[in-house]
Amino acid sequence: MPETLPLTLPDRATLLAIAAEVGTPVYVYDAAVIERAYRAFAEGLAPHPHAIHYALKANSTLALLRLLRTLGAQADANSGGEIEVALRAGFIPDQIVFTGVGKTGDELDRAVSLGVKAINAESPGELDRIASRAVALSTTVRVALRVNPDIDAKSHPHISTGLKTNKFGMPLEQVRQLYRDHARQPGLEPVGLHIHVGSQITSLDPLRRAAERAVTLGRELRDDGIQIEHLDLGGGLGISYDGTPVPTPAEYAAAILPAVRDTGFSIIVEPGRALVGAAGTLLTRVIDVKQYADGLRFAVLDAGMTELMRPALYGAFHRIIAVSPREGLEQAYEVVGPLCESSDIFGRDRRLPPLEVEDVMAILDAGAYGSVMASSYNRRPLLPEVLIDQPSRDYKHNDTTTRSRDEPGRRHWRVIRRRQTIDELLSTEV
Ligand code: LLP
Repeated sequence: MPETLPLTLPDRATLLAIAAEVGTPVYVYDAAVIERAYRAFAEGLAPHPHAIHYALKANSTLALLRLLRTLGAQADANSGGEIEVALRAGFIPDQIVFTGVGKTGDELDRAVSLGVKAINAESPGELDRIASRAVALSTTVRVALRVNPDIDAKSHPHISTGLKTNKFGMPLEQVRQLYRDHARQPGLEPVGLHIHVGSQITSLDPLRRAAERAVTLGRELRDDGIQIEHLDLGGGLGISYDGTPVPTPAEYAAAILPAVRDTGFSIIVEPGRALVGAAGTLLTRVIDVKQYADGLRFAVLDAGMTELMRPALYGAFHRIIAVSPREGLEQAYEVVGPLCESSDIFGRDRRLPPLEVEDVMAILDAGAYGSVMASSYNRRPLLPEVLIDQPSRDYKHNDTTTRSRDEPGRRHWRVIRRRQTIDELLSTEV
């Protein structure tokens, strides 16, 4: 038997209570799992000066951001919207790095006037645009140039970013010259280098090599008299979607730290998925079961690609389980969503106990790139989210909390985002 990791699933009684009270589909997050992952990064990186900038794009629900901020995380924002969300979650500008392959003038204005910790610039033109804004506002902006190291992350092509042919950053061999020509102009303070080679990376080698290339380049810049402070090594550490072991945050830290030791550069990391992915479960109900004459059997769920797009978009695998499995032999199911798209499939040929309408199902490891990528296609309102957490950590959730439950034998949970109504969905239309 190949080694498989235990499920990081909240207890079933709690899940059933949430499904009954909040309705399905609903995202459920376990704060303890996020906390464990955060501490693993923090402990692994402890030997070297570092900052953990959580990549908001993975999941930016306010309550999760407040939790991560409380744990010590800073923020990596990829849009003007994510900057605003980070501020509302309590991050200060000096805790925010602003990344993004295309930043609009308005977004740059906002980041410049806030004085974020660093803008990760993607091109010489962007450096010039930042500089002119900074001069106009009589300020100086901390910038880091994003380097494309031409490293194959060996992840899905849609989420690999470090190859020369990808649109991200500037080619490694050009960066030294670009920094000489563009980063020393008035209004700019070059403070770092940024590198991010992809996401869901399950081999440490590309991450280690990216760190080594960043160090080499950082030293060259220093030789040129450009005293950068930090190397932002991006995110990308993968999680196990199928239960087979993948590198842990501690192993990741052990892989990258040797490259930066004794360099004088501090590091920034931008994990997203590895902090929240395993903490999230998509709870959904069976709304139809049918069998074709040739034996093909379908279970249609009330969640679809609108709630979790990863399987349809990347062919991504997520484990699916019945929350209270019925007695009887396992059968093969095509587990599908209700949308009018043939790609709206969560899993083919899945061995599951006999399923009936109304059964509650859990789609695992959906905490990252789940709710943030949800859409209202087919006019489906955005789904609610629930956080299982210690009651003592009931910090303010503004008006997002609608209910909170603490029952004997079950874990404390509360709604951190309620289900959108049709009126809200239509509220921006004439
Ligand atoms: N930093 C930068 C510059 C990034 O582009 C990303 C992710 C991260 C950090 C965080 O990467 P992570 O640690 O989460 O791998 N929607 C896709 C993933 C897209 C990742 C985009 N960039 C998915 O569902 O797999």
